[in-house]
Amino acid sequence: MIRKEDIARILDAVRIEDVIGDYVTLKKRGANMFGLCPFHNEKTPSFTVAPAKGIYKCFGCGKAGNAVSFMMEHEHYTYPEALRYLAKKYGIDIVEEQPDEEYELKRSEEEQSYFVHDFTSKWFIQQLWETQKGQTIGLSYFRERGFSDAIIKKFQLGYSPPEYDALSKHAQKQGFKEEVLIKNGLVTEERKNDRFRDRVIFPIHSASGRVLAFGGRTMRTEKTIAKYLNSPETPIYRKSEVLYGIYFAKNAVVKENLCFLAEGYTDVISLHQAGVENVVASSGTSLTQGQIRAIRRFTPNITILYDGDSAGIKASFRAIDMILSEGMNVKVVMFPEGEDPDSYARSHSSSELKDFLKTKASNFIIFKAENLLGDAGRDPVERANAIRDIVASIAAVPEPITRSEFIKDCSLRFNIAEKDLVFEMNKVLRTNARQKIQRDEEQQIDIPEEKKETQSLLRNTDELLVEAERKLIQLILNDGNIELSFFENNEDGVPVEINMSTAEFIFKQIEEEELTFKNQKNIQLFELCKKQFADDGRIDSSQLFHTLSPDLVAYVADLLDEQYSLSPNWELKHQVFVQHKGNNEQIFMSVVDSSMLEFQQLIVRKRIDEINVKFNQKPDEEEMALLMVEYNKLKQLEIKINKEQLNRVIIK
Ligand code: CTP
Ligand code: MN
Repeated sequence: MIRKEDIARILDAVRIEDVIGDYVTLKKRGANMFGLCPFHNEKTPSFTVAPAKGIYKCFGCGKAGNAVSFMMEHEHYTYPEALRYLAKKYGIDIVEEQPDEEYELKRSEEEQSYFVHDFTSKWFIQQLWETQKGQTIGLSYFRERGFSDAIIKKFQLGYSPPEYDALSKHAQKQGFKEEVLIKNGLVTEERKNDRFRDRVIFPIHSASGRVLAFGGRTMRTEKTIAKYLNSPETPIYRKSEVLYGIYFAKNAVVKENLCFLAEGYTDVISLHQAGVENVVASSGTSLTQGQIRAIRRFTPNITILYDGDSAGIKASFRAIDMILSEGMNVKVVMFPEGEDPDSYARSHSSSELKDFLKTKASNFIIFKAENLLGDAGRDPVERANAIRDIVASIAAVPEPITRSEFIKDCSLRFNIAEKDLVFEMNKVLRTNARQKIQRDEEQQIDIPEEKKETQSLLRNTDELLVEAERKLIQLILNDGNIELSFFENNEDGVPVEINMSTAEFIFKQIEEEELTFKNQKNIQLFELCKKQFADDGRIDSSQLFHTLSPDLVAYVADLLDEQYSLSPNWELKHQVFVQHKGNNEQIFMSVVDSSMLEFQQLIVRKRIDEINVKFNQKPDEEEMALLMVEYNKLKQLEIKINKEQLNRVIIK
């Protein structure tokens, strides 16, 4: 258990922009900072960090919260784990009262995986540097390849001895269960042998530097032995999302605003050693969309470095279209036949290499043209095919303006009329669109037509209702202490002046009309607000914010960010109010009032919707009669609510 006072110290020390800045490149704009959301796939930044409020919010996917919840979401930490991480980051000593039950009893599956990988990685390193075999076989292999000791240490390279169970025995002696080693791909399921034997080891790190997996290279040359062996998918290793070297590259990628994408472990390491640090590899898998997105968090610019053989060219064609379709910029550097980035870096000086990377980077149109038109020669059919291929890549670009730039470029370069290229491209776009529609349709479940209608009717009211609840809570949290002043007709029809705060007004109305919230989070929050108001006579949203459970933190961070979280209609009204804050309470009053009214109306409407659904289900006569009675009552209530609005005369 982490003590309350320690939690407070951690929260005081935390600067949310540092915490998130470790994972997302943030750019300052006004009081806030922006970047690409790490939680969903996006091309333009909608992820916002508000340092003053200590919160983040993504306007694309809606994720929001504070530094603690960010670590929980992003690194899959539990609440205490996130706090421990932050304490460590800010050098805060925490006293753990009794050992945390959950911590002591069972770490989460992921935590266990990280732990066993960390342990194993250290052991491989120790095998490399401190054992006879490690030194004479592993270390000398690396050194012969030209890796410096410094770079071997930096990349935490290791060595796995040839015995069948060296790791397995050692790990089990240290308390790791065999099943854990198997689950994490370190021991094979069938024979219970060490997976990595007699190989040099390349650990694969997450963007934050934790070991997720290993790649092992044999030092033998027999064709029957696989050159590389990689960890299988495990609780922490999702191959399609991981890039080799991202941890070591990310700062340089941001600085250069460019990421080189190579094929292999050794390419990344050799380039680093030659002073080119903004490089990663898609090692062990062919490039995936997830890997491209992992780069996009740091830069929109990728330069592909693939071998100059035909397999390399083919792979780079595929990569080009994938990168373009993510809305990113792509260039290609082709290495001379028989060379890869690793061999080139070793056989040239650092400045030659840098110069080569700079001057040989060509845009994808030139690159494709060189490779396709070169093959096509003068054959007109082949030539047309080549151009069609280039146009297909241009069609992968999501942004129309960029597409037309590329079309222009292509038209000039090949001396083909722009309109012919556009015609060709539109064909591709249409085909793509058709395929997408087909895919979408295939994914849809069959719902009978009538059912679909009633379902959507109910869902809409439900959604509106939750939204209306949200608005009311938002008013309480953001503007709950603003004093309202209005007249209301009493029983005799005489107008009486009423003064109360916004929060009180809302609480009173809900109580008097016996209204209830529907959404679980809204219910909880509403109760918390009510309690605070009962205790203190006012609303202090930042005080309240600190006492919230982690799942509510995200929700409230969202609510407090008034600027964006409002629906368009509401935003319009609200902005009017914000602009005139302090001297135009009238507009504010009408906002509060209409929000309250909307909520009441929706509750009535929901019940009416439900009754309509029942009508459609052809009830028997008795039930029908009862439904009619209720229906009429509700209709009258609806009218009454509307009238109430009229009775309320706004002054000031
Ligand atoms: N790879 C793999 N399994 C293989 C072969 C290759 O996982 N059987 C992956 C490795 O990540 C490797 C990358 O594909 O780094 C590129 O393969 P290759 O070019 O053959 O290896 P190099 O990185 O050039 O390795 P080396 O220079 O040691 O031969
Ligand atoms: Mn190589």
